Amino acid sequence: MALRTSALLFFCLLLLLQDCFAKILKSLEDLEGSKYDFIVVGAGTAGSVLANRLSEVSEWKVLVVEAGVDDEGILDVEVPFLGTNLPDTEVDWNFTSTPQAELFNRSVPLSRGYVPGGSSSINLMTWNRASNDFWDSLARLTNDSAWSWDAVEQYNRKASRLVPPADGHDTTGEVDPSVHGNGPVQVSLPGFPTELDNRVVASAQALGGRFRYNKDFNAGDMLGFGYVQSSIGNGERSSSATAYLHPALNRSNLDLLINTRVTRIVDSSTDASRVMTTVELAQSEDGPRTQLTATKEVILSAGVFGTPQLLMLSGIGPKAQLEALNISMILDSSEVGAGLTDHPLLANYYEVNSNSTFDAVLRDEDILAADLKEWEEERQGIPEDDHCRRGDPSSGPTSGNLEFLFINGFAPFGSTPVPTNGSFMTVLAAVVSPKSRGSLTLASASVWDAPLIDLGLYTDDYDVAAMLDGVHALRTFLDADPWKGYLVGLYGDIADATTDDALAIYARNNSITVNHACCTARAGPGGVLDADLRVNWVNGLRVVDASIYPQIPEAHPQAPTYIVAERAADLIKAVYL
Ligand SMILES: Cc1cc2nc3c(=O)[nH]c(=O)nc-3n(C[C@H](O)[C@H](O)[C@H](O)COP(=O)(O)OP(=O)(O)OC[C@H]3O[C@@H](n4cnc5c(N)ncnc54)[C@H](O)[C@@H]3O)c2cc1C
Ligand SMILES: *[C@@H]1O[C@H](CO)[C@@H](O)[C@H](O)[C@H]1NC(C)=O
Ligand SMILES: *[C@@H]1O[C@H](CO)[C@@H](O)[C@H](O)[C@H]1NC(C)=O
Ligand SMILES: *[C@@H]1O[C@H](CO)[C@@H](O)[C@H](O)[C@H]1NC(C)=O
Ligand SMILES: *[C@@H]1O[C@H](CO)[C@@H](O)[C@H](O)[C@H]1NC(C)=O
Ligand SMILES: *[C@@H]1O[C@H](CO)[C@@H](O)[C@H](O)[C@H]1NC(C)=O
Ligand SMILES: *[C@@H]1O[C@H](CO)[C@@H](O)[C@H](O)[C@H]1NC(C)=O
Ligand SMILES: *[C@@H]1O[C@H](CO)[C@@H](O)[C@H](O)[C@H]1NC(C)=O
Ligand SMILES: *[C@@H]1O[C@H](CO)[C@@H](O)[C@H](O)[C@H]1NC(C)=O
Repeated sequence: MALRTSALLFFCLLLLLQDCFAKILKSLEDLEGSKYDFIVVGAGTAGSVLANRLSEVSEWKVLVVEAGVDDEGILDVEVPFLGTNLPDTEVDWNFTSTPQAELFNRSVPLSRGYVPGGSSSINLMTWNRASNDFWDSLARLTNDSAWSWDAVEQYNRKASRLVPPADGHDTTGEVDPSVHGNGPVQVSLPGFPTELDNRVVASAQALGGRFRYNKDFNAGDMLGFGYVQSSIGNGERSSSATAYLHPALNRSNLDLLINTRVTRIVDSSTDASRVMTTVELAQSEDGPRTQLTATKEVILSAGVFGTPQLLMLSGIGPKAQLEALNISMILDSSEVGAGLTDHPLLANYYEVNSNSTFDAVLRDEDILAADLKEWEEERQGIPEDDHCRRGDPSSGPTSGNLEFLFINGFAPFGSTPVPTNGSFMTVLAAVVSPKSRGSLTLASASVWDAPLIDLGLYTDDYDVAAMLDGVHALRTFLDADPWKGYLVGLYGDIADATTDDALAIYARNNSITVNHACCTARAGPGGVLDADLRVNWVNGLRVVDASIYPQIPEAHPQAPTYIVAERAADLIKAVYL
């Protein structure tokens, strides 16, 4: 009797284990005999959305291939407060830029998630869907009205939903629930307000004008100051892994293969028709290669650095570069890797009269975000034409040029050493409509070598000038009454930079980026992709990730990328269903 019970138990346990593990493949041999309709390259922010939405169709079989490590049990990925620990750990690709000529040849660190959920599993979780002008501009640049603000509204609602903040406080007046949807990513306001929150909001209300209070940055108009919304629910990070990928892994038609890189996409046509539906896979640099063909499409969601790298390794890219590396050319496309753009970021440090910053406790971040439209006052009364001639590079008047993030403590984002005593406020200023462009090129013909990432930071003088305007606008903001008696003064190298020339040197010496790189495989006329994100002149290959933007969103780009992926899933369904 006892024997039978334990045999039964053993059997149940085995069933459970199989159910869990059969879906997460860890070895190329696990693929044996499998056929897939779609192969998604990268289980990142966009790739996980596609894995979920495409596997909703039970007659389709979907494989998503992820280079990175298993996310199970990685505490720092789950706990929002520990998010800043993630760069340079096992879940990061640890990229760095090439030496930046306009930053005194400094290289800047560039993180990217190396784990299911991709960068949504390691980012700082700020949730902005970008302004209505950004989306309407995307519609113009792709020549397709289906990308307009109004047209993508359904996908915004499909991707995320508003949930209560961690401390459960009444959020009336801090957010507009009517502009939020009912999708799987959980979005919330900060819990446990800090002493900065009230000062920022009170200053915005007192100053008005370009510093006015904005109840919800996700309502279309991004100008003003207000509360940051984050992809956090129940006190935990809500990523595309937790919201989209894991909940779909119990479907028998979805497989996730981890610890595996796609090394290139192979042209399987025997004529000139360029059918790019075969991926080559490997688990190590010297390991065996396996080829696998999708019966319908391969979707590249390898991110802003991985996607252009893979296109070039597959023979789609600038001819001279491919020739120099002996990569046989399939399509000469100078646009692959061009257009790389990121948001430069500069730390402003203030010593403050307080005992409740995080400095004493833990040098970590609690961020209250605020977006500020630069030069709005100067614009008043300036005819449209004049303002266009001045060269505002943003998508339009509801997009910002500058952004400030307030941190209740010293955040080490530059060359100023972390002080060992005292209390601080850090205000990160970012230029969200930069004019500078960089490019991504190959370092070698192997996916195991990081590509050369030249961000081109500050190569356009507009960006340094905009950053300085940001520093000055911040000082005007901090002159408001609510800061009196609280701010002691500027701290660190920035305190010694008393002229604009010195401030420009400080900016070049200390700027990094917000890790918002994008635009390396742009969609639209003249770009790499058509408006439906298919690679031009090639069959069976689509790109869906932050590479596709023709112009950088004047916002934190994760929410737009979820929206792009949601729409892409419908585009694919419309073709094959
Ligand atoms: C540190 C940090 C902080 C950020 N903070 C914010 C923020 O607060 N708010 C915000 O909106 N945005 C933020 N961002 C940016 C945002 O997270 C990214 O823009 C967005 O997640 C990009 O999504 P993606 O789908 O393009 O790429 P990713 O999410 O990076 O996905 C790409 C995936 O492809 C995989 N991959 C790459 N190459 C291969 C290959 N050859 N084979 C197989 N798999 C491959 C990668 O491992 C990865 O999982 C931050 C980014 C970082 C890194
Ligand atoms: C990034 O660096 C960490 C720490 O050194 C390491 O564990 C990890 O494997 C690196 N990532 C990659 C993709 O090599
Ligand atoms: C940056 O590097 C280039 C090329 O090596 C060199 O010519 C230039 O002088 C360097 N600039 C600075 C400020 O060091
Ligand atoms: C934009 O779309 C219209 C209508 O589909 C088309 O006639 C036109 O040629 C397109 N323009 C470009 C530059 O592709
Ligand atoms: C998978 O799990 C979800 C709940 O997490 C459930 O709603 C769904 O029905 C399950 N699907 C299958 C195929 O078992
Ligand atoms: C390319 O091929 C040529 C001729 O086979 C060889 O001389 C050259 O070293 C190769 N270059 C690279 C980068 O592999
Ligand atoms: C901080 O604590 C010190 C020592 O207890 C006290 O003297 C000081 O007044 C406090 N400052 C503030 C702003 O509360
Ligand atoms: C830190 O302490 C040193 C001496 O102990 C003092 O000179 C300095 O002003 C203090 N700094 C701050 C920011 O309080
Ligand atoms: C630039 O940064 C270095 C430390 O990285 C510092 O020694 C130097 O004084 C700084 N120069 C300026 C002009 O800020």
